[in-house]
Amino acid sequence: MLRTSATVIGRQGIPLTYRCLTSRAIQRSLLSTTRNLSNETPSDKTDAEILKDIKGIKLKDIKIKREGQPEEVQPEITEEESSRFTNWKTIGIFSIVSTGAYIWASEKKKELEIIKEAEANRSTVGGTPFKLTDFNGKPFTEKDLLGKFTLMYFGFSHCPDICPAELDKLSVWIEGIKKHCNVEVQPIFITCDPIRDTPEVLKKYLKDFHPSMIGLTGSHADIKEMCKNYKVFFSTPEDANPKSDYIVDHSTFTYIIDPEGQFIEAIGTIYNEKEGLERIEQHIKTFVPQKEREKRLNKWYAFLFK
Ligand code: NI
Repeated sequence: MLRTSATVIGRQGIPLTYRCLTSRAIQRSLLSTTRNLSNETPSDKTDAEILKDIKGIKLKDIKIKREGQPEEVQPEITEEESSRFTNWKTIGIFSIVSTGAYIWASEKKKELEIIKEAEANRSTVGGTPFKLTDFNGKPFTEKDLLGKFTLMYFGFSHCPDICPAELDKLSVWIEGIKKHCNVEVQPIFITCDPIRDTPEVLKKYLKDFHPSMIGLTGSHADIKEMCKNYKVFFSTPEDANPKSDYIVDHSTFTYIIDPEGQFIEAIGTIYNEKEGLERIEQHIKTFVPQKEREKRLNKWYAFLFK
């Protein structure tokens, strides 16, 4: 730091004299006035030319020498400070980039695991044609599953506790997915008790749950077949008395079906609202249609998906 009068040599070799404290102050001074130029200013330059020269001078270009001392004083500190700053900046940028890369890689790894799991599950459950009746008395087939993600649950309306609890969870998931992913998922309730669960009974029962919920029933044989295809335990005897108070044993999984009608995963009661929502959202976010999945398997990076 200079505290005495100094001679500053600009890049263009113009000697200028002032009283200054720091090189920044010099630059400020240089830019603010031409009138403070010393008598040493070469007389062949006009004020305008000098001003132009001065404006071209950058802080790092300024060389300062004390009056009476020919050697240069200034730049070392500035350079040292500047390189220290550059080092920290480099370390900072490197840390941010590597942390970002790590997070990105972990996310990608998780996504790949989900994609692989979904792919392995696809051929194991469902995917077969069916014909049931919805709670409005209209036919409902496997084609009605196309174009939307579906959350499918098998149960019965007389179920005392598990079915209502799971259907409540289903409603939370439908709303959560809509909010987070802006995706409308179709909830479907399929009865395992076709003898008591007529379309009318289902209609009334499902009013207590999500408004977009569809109820499906059918003949004893059709429901039995449906349960078999989706690996759902089915215990209703064919000759059960619809007026009797029997309990139906049934599986309590929520099936995630992709927009092409293929099974992806079954979410058990072990998943709470938050975990189940996360899991379903992961499937929705990583889903790609079958054609694109097939194309992907012909690429050099296909090994990632196997
Ligand atoms: Ni139940």
